Amino acid sequence: MRSSTNMIEIKSLTKRFGKIVALQQLNLDIKKGELLGIIGPNGAGKTTAIRIISCILHPDEGDVLVGGYHIGQNPLEIKSMIGYLPEEPNLYERFKAYDLLKYFGELYGVPKEDLDSRIEELLELVGMKHRAQHRINTFSKGLRQRIAIARALIHDPEIIIFDEPTMGLDPATAMNIREFIAGLKGDKTILLCTHYMDEADLLCDRVAILNQGQILDMGTPHELKSKIHGDIILNIGLKDPSLIEISTLEQVCPVENIAWQKDQLYMSLSSREDIASIVEFLGSNVQSIHTKEPTLEDVFIQTVSNLPENIE
Ligand SMILES: Nc1ncnc2c1ncn2[C@@H]1O[C@H](COP(=O)(O)OP(=O)(O)OP(=O)(O)O)[C@@H](O)[C@H]1O
Ligand SMILES: [Mg+2]
Repeated sequence: MRSSTNMIEIKSLTKRFGKIVALQQLNLDIKKGELLGIIGPNGAGKTTAIRIISCILHPDEGDVLVGGYHIGQNPLEIKSMIGYLPEEPNLYERFKAYDLLKYFGELYGVPKEDLDSRIEELLELVGMKHRAQHRINTFSKGLRQRIAIARALIHDPEIIIFDEPTMGLDPATAMNIREFIAGLKGDKTILLCTHYMDEADLLCDRVAILNQGQILDMGTPHELKSKIHGDIILNIGLKDPSLIEISTLEQVCPVENIAWQKDQLYMSLSSREDIASIVEFLGSNVQSIHTKEPTLEDVFIQTVSNLPENIE
């Protein structure tokens, strides 16, 4: 059935809503066992792509293969392989947590004899065992999210799709959920959409940057960060900035993105070893030195926010 190690293959996917083109000839492969992140501004097409992969929405053009099945031909097989946590999970408010999971377990055909232990295991995993007999409408946002995650995993799917799993959660709950996702890595193929760059950096094997329905760039978090900013951002405070000609720095070693902020000089270096050369060159004019690893947020801002179509 499966022709390669790709679990999901997105081929030339296009989706329009009236005049809005949500996805434009999108191509993307997700490998078996990989945790792939999609980041991108509001309206980039992340949720649309996810909904098509999950067979909730039909594309206008293109195809998606999930585990070798085509979305247009085998939606039932695909749905049974996927656990989907939507952006805004719609839980049945009057159900008790346990009963909700039982209902969905039966719906997904979890064998009767396994269902109770599966529910117990999931409630334990998401830290909700003590609230099993409480109704959903008594839960806070974070507690609902935990139950929604348990619901997505009830049928032990091979593929898990998280659409902004930690949106609006307090930092401790968000960290719990990130740790939980990290614990699923390797066993499962995971697609994660997020606006939290540190979350993408921490969890993802590869990250795709989506903008206006197209992929602008893709790679491991490390690849993306070093491609844009070199390996290190150096910040030097100077006693007398007027003594420095920026063009002379470029003769010392490979530097990029040189920028001034008052008496602070910023630059990207491709190697830590170049710090010493720059400091030696600036000599007694140096007042302070700070280094910073580039973050995915720097990548996002440089790749997406500076595009003319995204400047309002
Ligand atoms: N059902 C719909 N009807 C009309 N337009 C839609 C519909 N769903 C999505 N769109 C439009 O398609 C584009 C992509 O939306 P989508 O929800 O995929 O973005 P997103 O990347 O998930 O954004 P966000 O980060 O805000 O969740 C947007 O312009 C959106 O308004
Ligand atoms: Mg979305």
